[in-house]
Amino acid sequence: MTFRQRYTGLIERYRDRLPVHDDTRLISLGEGNTPLIKLHNIPDSLGKNVDIYVKYEGLNPTGSFKDRGMTMAVTKAVEKGSKAIICASTGNTSASAAAYAARAGITAFVLIPDGKIAQGKLAQAMMEGAVVIQIKGNFDDGMRLVKEVADEAPVTIVNSINPYRLQGQKTAAYEIIEELGRAPDFHCLPVGNAGNITAHWIGYSEYAGKLSDYFYNDTLEEYDKSSVTEKVPTMLGYQASGSAPFLRGEMVDNPETIATAIRIGHPQSWDYAWKVHEESGGWFDECTDKEILATQKLLAEKEGVFCEPASATSLAGAMRDIQSGKIPENSCIVCTLTGHGLKDPDTAIKQSTAPVVKVEAELGQVKSAILENM
Ligand code: F0G
Repeated sequence: MTFRQRYTGLIERYRDRLPVHDDTRLISLGEGNTPLIKLHNIPDSLGKNVDIYVKYEGLNPTGSFKDRGMTMAVTKAVEKGSKAIICASTGNTSASAAAYAARAGITAFVLIPDGKIAQGKLAQAMMEGAVVIQIKGNFDDGMRLVKEVADEAPVTIVNSINPYRLQGQKTAAYEIIEELGRAPDFHCLPVGNAGNITAHWIGYSEYAGKLSDYFYNDTLEEYDKSSVTEKVPTMLGYQASGSAPFLRGEMVDNPETIATAIRIGHPQSWDYAWKVHEESGGWFDECTDKEILATQKLLAEKEGVFCEPASATSLAGAMRDIQSGKIPENSCIVCTLTGHGLKDPDTAIKQSTAPVVKVEAELGQVKSAILENM
């Protein structure tokens, strides 16, 4: 019997395509290598002949895709001698920053909107020893403050404006191509700051040997960009209706949505995202909170995959575009599920309609509870 080599994270896996040196100390928690799950029941119910895969990024070490970017950002921060990192966050970035800072033995400062982050995310940041700064404002206020404070204090910003974040996150596209043996026709993502849609486009374009100079950043060193595939997908970005600056064509000052992870009105990667839109020939669209929650529930009930509300936006948008024919039949579609459902148990329990039957600890009552619900 031969043993498979232990998986030790995405930097090790893709070191030829990432800006690290042989002697760089890697700060990793084994992130990446997440499941690409083919949906069965949902495509059947749509009555359309399409292949839909979900990339379950909720299975990263801190439960979201942020870990892909954070392993790179913190690795580079430590390499450059930084003793503290800082981010503004709707929750997942703060959980991830806190974990990788703990791993590296440095301090994480996280600015979060007071009362507007899911419980699981707050618990993570607190347990992982971050300094949690709750601001009476939203994510966009937090982002502005982080930029201002980083000009005056020795802290490294680890939001996705840090170019190493996108470098780590591009590896999700590599994994998808390697698993499917091709790029999908359409790749659907929830969009907040638009860092992740940009990172995916960088990954797909690099693997096709087609990365345009627009996305190249001179803080990055030279690395392998030889082509692996021919094709790149059409990139589709979906936003929550109350927080949809890409649909409005301008920044939104008071964003609102139940999907707190993407409650962002001033996306940091605005220009990049429009370039992705242009180069890939894709589109943006919006989903209502009702659609987002219904899709989160559908995915859990019909496929057994539990993601957080924001993550379901990708599938909600894709389903609508499949039904309308905008996404044609016979397409291969990948939807990113950005975060785990356990991040936000409150929203899940509130909308759950599953029967919870209370009985005495006694055989007769348990038996009738089963028979009544068969
Ligand atoms: N989905 C989830 C679960 C997220 O946490 C985020 C962003 C997004 C989608 C949007 O990704 O910003 O790259 O377009 N969360 C950030 C945070 C803002 O602070 O955790 P994006």
